[in-house]
Amino acid sequence: MMTEPEHIETLLELDRAHVIHPNHALGEAVDFIISRGEGVRLYDVSGRAFLDGRSQLNCANLGYGHPRVIAAIKDQVERLSYLSIFYQFSHPQVISCASRLAASAPGDLEHVLFTSGGSEAIEAALSMVRLYWSRRGSPKSKIISRYKGYHGATASAMAATGMPMGGAAGIQRLVPGHVHIPAPHQYRHAEHVDEAAYAKFAADQLAAAIELEGPDTVAAFIAEPVIGVGGYIPPPAGYWTMVREICDRYGVLLILDEVMTGFHRTGPRFAADHWNLVPDIMIVGKGINGCHVPCGGAVISSRIAAVLEGAKLSGFTHTGHPLAMAAANAAFDAFEQDGIEANVERVGGLIMERLRREFLPLPHVGSIEGLGLMIGIELVADKASKTRLPDRALQGIVAAALRDGLIMRGRDSRLALCPPLVVNESDAMLMLDILHPLIRGLSA
Ligand SMILES: Cc1ncc(COP(=O)(O)O)c(C=O)c1O
Repeated sequence: MMTEPEHIETLLELDRAHVIHPNHALGEAVDFIISRGEGVRLYDVSGRAFLDGRSQLNCANLGYGHPRVIAAIKDQVERLSYLSIFYQFSHPQVISCASRLAASAPGDLEHVLFTSGGSEAIEAALSMVRLYWSRRGSPKSKIISRYKGYHGATASAMAATGMPMGGAAGIQRLVPGHVHIPAPHQYRHAEHVDEAAYAKFAADQLAAAIELEGPDTVAAFIAEPVIGVGGYIPPPAGYWTMVREICDRYGVLLILDEVMTGFHRTGPRFAADHWNLVPDIMIVGKGINGCHVPCGGAVISSRIAAVLEGAKLSGFTHTGHPLAMAAANAAFDAFEQDGIEANVERVGGLIMERLRREFLPLPHVGSIEGLGLMIGIELVADKASKTRLPDRALQGIVAAALRDGLIMRGRDSRLALCPPLVVNESDAMLMLDILHPLIRGLSA
C-alpha cells in the first residue's frame, strides 16, 4: 500500500514530535517510515524496497512474515491470547518451547526462565547466579565480562557491556561488582602470529583477572561466543575450550550470551556447538522466533537448578507469553523444514569466498572475519598501520548503501554483514554488488 506524499510528511512530523529512537539523536527526524516487510526486504510507505543486510538488529532471522510463524501466531491469538505463567499456571506452548530448547541446548541446560528480550534474560541470569552462590554459602558476587561485549540496556546488562552505550558512557557503570577484560581480536594483535598461542594469551587474561580480583569473589564470567555489536568477530581456535577449563578451575560459572548468535546465525543451532562448549547458563533472545514477537530466556543447567530448588524466582509480565511461545515453536519447525542451517553454511560460504577474493585486496579493507551469516569487515584508513577508518567515512558507506537500497550497520570501523538466514544466493550477491563499488571508491 502506497501512502500519499502529504501523509508521509505528517507521519514524519508526528514521529519527530513524539517518538524516541534508540541510537538516533534525540529530536532529529528519521528518514524512512517502513510499512511492510516480506522475505529479506522491507518496503517504505512510498513503496520503495530495501534489502535488509543486517536483519535489523541481527534478529529478523527468518525474514519478514514467515508464513509458518504467522499462521501459528494467528492460531494462538484466537485460542489463548495471554496467560501469565506465574504461580501454578502453565500452557501447552510454553511447555513445548521450553522442552525443545532443553533438548537442543548444549549439555544439561534444561530449565528456562523466559523473558521479553535479551536484557531481561541477562538480569534474570545474574540474579540466579547470585542466589546460587548465596545458597551455597559463598560470598562470590563479581561478574567478569569483556570489553567489546554487548549484553543489553538494563542496569546489570549495561554494566556487563564493555563499550560506551546509551548516550553517556558514565551512566552505564553505576552497578558495582562488574569487571572487564579484553576480548580477543587477533587482527589487532599483530605480534601474535600463531592463532593457538593467541587464543591462550586471550584466555589467560580471564585467569589473570580472576586471580587479581580473588577467586573467592568471582561469581561468573559472561561473554558472547562470537563478538556481536562489538564487531562480528569469531574467537581464535581453542579459546572457548581454555575459557571453560579456567572457569572450572576457579569455580566460576560460565554464562554464554547467545542472544545474537543463537538459532543458526553462525550455522549450527547455537554458536557453542562449533566447539562442543557447555556453559552453565545460556542466554537466548532475538532469533528464537525471528523477532516476530518479543522473547528471550535464560537457560540454566540442572546443577544450578538443583541448588535453586524451591526458590520463588522473579519473572516478568510477558514471561512465557503464549504468542511468543507459539512463534518460537513455529520457528523451531521452520529452521528444520526450511533447511536454515544448510542455507547459512552455503550462502555464508559463498559470501565469505567473494569477500576474500574481491574485497580483501581493496586498499581500505583491513580484515574480514565471520562465522555463518555473521560477518564483520574491518575498514582502515591505511592498511600497513591498520589505522581505523574515521567514523564519518564508515557512516558514509552505510548511508550510500541505503541510497542504493541496502540496509547496513557500521560501528568502530567495522561493517556488519548479517542478512536474514533465509537469504538466497542472488540477494546475497546483490548485497556485495552494492557494497563493492562503495568500498572501492573510499579515498584515504
Ligand atoms: C549479545 C546480546 N545480548 C543481549 C542483547 C540485549 O537484547 P535485547 O535488546 O533484546 O534486550 C543483545 C541485543 O543486541 C545482544 O546482541
